[in-house]
Amino acid sequence: MSNLFICDHPMIQHKLTFIRDKETNTKDFRELIDEVATFMAYEITREIPLQTIKVETPVAITDSKIVSGRMLGLVPILRAGLGMVDGILKLIPSAKVGHIGLARDHETLQPKEYYINLPTDAQDRMLIVIDPMLATGGSAIAALNSLKQRGCEVMKLMCIIAAPEGVKAVQEAHPDVDIYIAALDEGLNEKGYIVPGLGDAGDRIFGTN
Ligand code: PRP
Ligand code: URA
Repeated sequence: MSNLFICDHPMIQHKLTFIRDKETNTKDFRELIDEVATFMAYEITREIPLQTIKVETPVAITDSKIVSGRMLGLVPILRAGLGMVDGILKLIPSAKVGHIGLARDHETLQPKEYYINLPTDAQDRMLIVIDPMLATGGSAIAALNSLKQRGCEVMKLMCIIAAPEGVKAVQEAHPDVDIYIAALDEGLNEKGYIVPGLGDAGDRIFGTN
């Protein structure tokens, strides 16, 4: 059974078109990433368990549902993952947020970890690792490795655009991790960029290049 989930909601696909457009300015790009992250958070939390509690309405006492099970944690991969955090927190405001700093070497495409800071109870939470781009998969695999080394066991990966190469690499390295994406693109170019992709996500979110 595949652990790849493509979030094909029409509003996500509509916004993705403007995210891809090279004419979209930094402000609009940032807002669109934030909005898509909120929509994707609905999809990724679809299977969260519920428990029944009693609630007293102004009219009667009734059984009603609240979420239960593991609490959630978000782990954006710096920098670009930061652009998705606020959008997800709109849906899951009580989630704690850890950070992993990884940068791809432009020549070798190998990720280097330069920072990590996690909630003290990260091991007990269901962690959502966040990055808009899953290209070779090196950064996501390194982030998941790092979290597993620190005792984290239950994790999902949320990316906006993925290359088939990156999906395959993550599935091989971490078959236990469900992957949620909004689009599966054609592949990678010689510089390791996703085609057609959206360009450099970090640069477009933060207005650098
Ligand atoms: C980008 C992107 C991912 C990574 C994906 O980050 O945000 O983290 O590349 O590529 P991969 O799947 O081949 O590892 P980058 O390293 O450019 O850092 P940045 O977010 O600071 O720009
Ligand atoms: N990182 C990006 O930001 N964009 C890509 O296309 C690949 C990696």
